[in-house]
Amino acid sequence: MRPPARRRAPPALLPLLTCSLAFALASEEVKKEATQSKNLEESDISREHGIDLKEIVFVIQSQSNAFHAQRAEQSKNSILKQSAALAQELPQVLLLHELSKQEGAWTILPLLPHFSVTYSRNSSWIFFCEEETRIQVPKLLETLRRYDPSKEWFLGKALHDEESTIIHHYAFSENPSVFKYPDFAAGWALSLPLVNKLTKRLKRESLKSDFTIDLKHEIALYVWDRGDGPALTAVPELCTDSVDARCATTGRSSLPLCGNPVKKEDIFVAVKTCKKFHGDRIPIVKQTWAGQASRIEYYSDHADSSIPTVDLGVPNTDRGHCGKTFAILERFLNLSHDKIAWLVIVDDDTLISIPRLRRLLSCYDADGPVLLGERYGYGLGTGGYSYVTGGGGMVFSREAVRRLLGGQCRCHSNDAPDDMVLGMCSSGLGVPVTHSPLFHQARPVDYPEAYLSHQVPVSFHKHWNIDPVKAYVTWLAPGEEDEAGPETRKGRKDEL
Ligand SMILES: *[C@@H]1O[C@H](CO)[C@@H](O)[C@H](O)[C@H]1NC(C)=O
Ligand SMILES: *[C@@H]1O[C@H](CO)[C@@H](O)[C@H](O)[C@H]1NC(C)=O
Repeated sequence: MRPPARRRAPPALLPLLTCSLAFALASEEVKKEATQSKNLEESDISREHGIDLKEIVFVIQSQSNAFHAQRAEQSKNSILKQSAALAQELPQVLLLHELSKQEGAWTILPLLPHFSVTYSRNSSWIFFCEEETRIQVPKLLETLRRYDPSKEWFLGKALHDEESTIIHHYAFSENPSVFKYPDFAAGWALSLPLVNKLTKRLKRESLKSDFTIDLKHEIALYVWDRGDGPALTAVPELCTDSVDARCATTGRSSLPLCGNPVKKEDIFVAVKTCKKFHGDRIPIVKQTWAGQASRIEYYSDHADSSIPTVDLGVPNTDRGHCGKTFAILERFLNLSHDKIAWLVIVDDDTLISIPRLRRLLSCYDADGPVLLGERYGYGLGTGGYSYVTGGGGMVFSREAVRRLLGGQCRCHSNDAPDDMVLGMCSSGLGVPVTHSPLFHQARPVDYPEAYLSHQVPVSFHKHWNIDPVKAYVTWLAPGEEDEAGPETRKGRKDEL
C-alpha cells in the first residue's frame, strides 16, 4: 500500500497536520504521565499483591492458518503445563482466532467488551502474547504481583520511534521518542480496571481509525487517550532477548523452517514496474536480490527488451495498480505448462530475500489457499477487511489465485488499490489473510531498532531517502541465519 495519508479521502493533508500538531502539544502530557506512572510503580513495588495464577487470562494473538494455529496451541500447552506444575488452579488460556469470527478480532480493541463482561468479576489481568512468546509462568506471576490490580495498568516492553515515521502517521514529530508502545513479542498486559474503562469508551464512541497499520502503536495511542488514560509502563521482566536473568518472557520473530526450504523453481516472482522506473529501480532489483529468483518477470506498461519487461497491455496508473495485478494473477494461472506452487508480487522498490522466503514458505500448505504478507486493516472497527499490504510483497499459493479469480472479485478501475481490493475479496472467497511480521511495508529506518533486532526480516519497501543497496546488504543479504546448517535448525526447532 502507498502512504496511508494518500489513501484517505481528500483533503488528505489537513487531518494529518492537525493530528501532528495535537500530538506535539500532547507530548508534554506524555512526559508528565510517564513520571506519574513511574512514581506510582515505585510506591507499589514495595507491596505485593497476592493474586493467584487463575486471575490471569492469557490471550495468544493466534491466527487460523494451520501452521500458526499449531504454534499457538504449543504455546498454550506450555503455559498450562507450567501452571499445573505450580499446583494452582489453571488460568484461562485463549487463542484469539478462536474467540471471535469477527474479521477485526486481531486488532483486539473490538474484543475488550467481551473480556470486560466475562472476566471483570473474577480476574485481575489480561495478558496478551504472540505465538512465539516464551513465558516463564512463575516469574510472570511474580512480576504481575508487583502492580496493584485495582488500578489501571498498561504494561509491556517499551518501544519508541527514533524518527517520526509514516507508519505512525508521523506522530509526535517534535520528539518521537517520548511515546512508548509495547513490543508484542515480549507480551503485554492490561489490568481489568483499565479493560473496563476502555470498554465504556468503546460503547460511548465507535472506533474511529480507518486504517490499521501498526497495531501496537495504535493500541497504545488508544489506551493513552491524549493523556486521559495511562501511558505504557515499561516492565524490565518482559523481554525479547534473554540476556537478563530476570526475564519472565522472551520473544523472537525468527524465521521458521518446516522440512526443506521450498525449491527456487517453485516460486514465481512478479515485479510490478512502469516505464519511468526502468532506469533507476530495476537496476537495483538486479543488483540486489533478483539473482536469487529462478523465475522472475517484470511487468510494465512498456516493452523493454533490455530488462526484459512483459507489457500486460494495462495502461500505467500512478497508484493502485489493480488492473496490472489482476493481469499478473491471470497470467500466473495461464502458465499452466508447469504448475508453479507460489506466486509473489512485489513493487520495483521492494527489497526481498528469496532464500528466507523459501524457508518461510516451507511452513505453509501449498495446496491450500494461502495469502501471506504484512497484514493491514481497513475500517475494522465497523466491519471492514484485512489485506496484505502490497509494498512488502504479497505471497499467493496457486489455490489462492484460483479462488480469487474464480469468484466475482474484479477491479472496478485499473487504478483501484490492488492490495485492498484483494483483501476485500479474500475472506469471502475462503482465502484468509495470514500475517507475517517479517514482511515490511516501509524502510528499515521506519521501525525501532529494538524491534528489528529480534527478527530475521524477509522484506522492506521504498527507496526514499535511503541507499537501497546498503539497506539490502544490512538487513536482507544472505548471512549466518540463512546458512544455518541442519544442527542449528534442529536447535531452533527444539526450542519450541
Ligand atoms: C471467570 O469467569 C469466566 C466466565 O464465567 C469463566 O470462564 C472462568 O473460568 C472464570 N475464572 C475463574 C478463575 O473462576
Ligand atoms: C489467459 O488465458 C486466457 C484464455 O486463453 C486469455 O484470454 C487471457 O488473455 C490470458 N491472460 C493473460 C494475462 O495472459
